[in-house]
Amino acid sequence: MNVDDISQVTVLGAGNMGHGITEVVAIAGYDVVMRDIEQDLVDDGFESIKWSVEKLSEKGIVSEDAETVLDRIDTEVDLETAVSDADLVIEAAPEQMEIKKDIFSDLDEFTPEDAILASNTSSLSITEIATATSRPEQVVGMHFFNPPVKMDLVEVIYGAETADETAEATYEFVESIDKTPIYVRKDVNGFVVNSVLGPFSDEAAWMVSEGVADIEAVDAAMVHRRGYPMGPFELSDLTGIDIGYHVRKEAGRDIPPIVQEKVDAEDLGQKTGRGYYDYEDGGGTTYE
Ligand code: 3HC
Repeated sequence: MNVDDISQVTVLGAGNMGHGITEVVAIAGYDVVMRDIEQDLVDDGFESIKWSVEKLSEKGIVSEDAETVLDRIDTEVDLETAVSDADLVIEAAPEQMEIKKDIFSDLDEFTPEDAILASNTSSLSITEIATATSRPEQVVGMHFFNPPVKMDLVEVIYGAETADETAEATYEFVESIDKTPIYVRKDVNGFVVNSVLGPFSDEAAWMVSEGVADIEAVDAAMVHRRGYPMGPFELSDLTGIDIGYHVRKEAGRDIPPIVQEKVDAEDLGQKTGRGYYDYEDGGGTTYE
């Protein structure tokens, strides 16, 4: 598959990453199907895209009117229907290997034989996901960052059997949606960015768990003194505390007590209305 042959894209998952990726792909002019397992999830994802595209269009950041962009998006629940014409599938399902393998096994069955099968996994092995298919040379990592519409970088990750042709077409596709790709040439846990962010986030969580400093103090230190756009706790609330939890588990790292506490309480960040900070009733971060 060559990048010029990609016209129909399917995104699997309508959560934060799935709807964000769908939006970016549609803004770039591709026809895209967004699929999730329940109609409510797909509808919620579509509403989030609508809110975002309308805002970006009003501000002139997106040059077309919102309707034109939204018209390129179809929503679907049935997997076979969603992927049967896809040139490129970007999977953004929950971070559990069994779920990913089931999906890739279905993709092997239902997608056109030359389709590129990409995973947006942040921590799972591309090589292992690819074993669920009979075409591991067409399986690649395509890792976006949250929120996809605002974050420029996309990691293009080689699994052990990914063909150069697949990785190159994926890289060029990322450029075509106005993002900046980098190749990750080895399928290491966390790839490049999460390998660096992991210890940063762990250190912050252990410090708070051990009473060294408060959440607000750590976030304020990193934002006001280090110049980061967000502190580690604010960032976890944005990306989802459960995502960081699964990444740590997958990497065999110990879970800091404060993280375990939030996961047990199902306070997972902005998406549940509460995480390290309380977002209900218009709330948000409390550091100054
Ligand atoms: N669509 C449209 N508009 C949006 C929007 C969206 N998705 N998100 C925010 N906006 C709007 C806001 O509503 C606001 O509009 P207003 O001025 O009219 O009120 C405007 O954009 C500015 O918003 P903010 O002041 O909140 O935010 P900034 O634009 O300054 O930056 C940010 C937001 C890009 C998220 C920045 O804080 C940032 O870079 N944070 C770090 C994010 C990061 O590191 N992400 C990577 C996480 S790791 C990851 O994803 C890996 C995974 O594997 C876990």
